[in-house]
Amino acid sequence: MFLSASANTGRGESPVSKPLIHASSIVKVFDELKVLNKASFTLNEGEFVAVTGKSGVGKSTLLGILGTLDPAFTGELTINGVSTPKASSMELAELRREFMGFIFQDFHLLPNLSALDNILLPAVFSGTDSLEVRKDAAAILSRLDLRNDNTPTRFLSRGERQRVASARALVNNPKVLLADEPTASLDEDSEENLFDLLDALRKERGFAIIAVLHSKRILSRADRILELKGGVLHEKHA
Ligand SMILES: Nc1ncnc2c1ncn2[C@@H]1O[C@H](COP(=O)(O)OP(=O)(O)OP(=O)(O)O)[C@@H](O)[C@H]1O
Ligand SMILES: [Mg+2]
Repeated sequence: MFLSASANTGRGESPVSKPLIHASSIVKVFDELKVLNKASFTLNEGEFVAVTGKSGVGKSTLLGILGTLDPAFTGELTINGVSTPKASSMELAELRREFMGFIFQDFHLLPNLSALDNILLPAVFSGTDSLEVRKDAAAILSRLDLRNDNTPTRFLSRGERQRVASARALVNNPKVLLADEPTASLDEDSEENLFDLLDALRKERGFAIIAVLHSKRILSRADRILELKGGVLHEKHA
């Protein structure tokens, strides 16, 4: 069962939507260091939420928790109606597979495989590879202006590898795209191009984005900007 939707504070044309992710009073401690101190967060359907903040403040830690990659925290986390602290690791793996796509800062691509093979890897591992998935993967490659050939990704430019990583995150049609500084070290035009493409796909497919970002130009495109400071998230306006 979904929790009731929080007030819409976004600038986007958001219909009445139910939260996909709801986190409250999240506390995360590394040894003596309290990185998150009762942080709360809600992500609604189709929203683009940006998280920003100084280096070392805990943005990647927060994303790892929201993405159920890190179960070692206290507080409440509900994803698609599932209370994750109560879920088994199998249930969490299924939730991630069916519900979320991840773009990591360093892409995590296999350098000797082609773009298409990298993209299909999660489906191959999860046994969901099919003609339909292959068609969708090819369609996403084309939407992201990537060639669908056998070139190993180690030969692709950084911007192209970035788009392959984005395509891989989207191939299982996630409801939520989690991205940790996805455009770090891209030039401004490549960064803007990537967000043009992601935004267009977001509108076509209706997924939500939570992304750790710094660039003012990209931040200004988000429905909401949250700054992580002192272990909690503060709503910011561009
Ligand atoms: N596994 C760990 N063990 C101990 N401390 C950790 C661990 N992971 C992260 N930290 C610490 O937690 C704090 C938050 O780290 P995190 O990577 O979340 O920051 P960040 O906001 O993503 O920073 P950046 O902008 O540089 O990527 C840092 O002080 C970091 O050293
Ligand atoms: Mg980080």
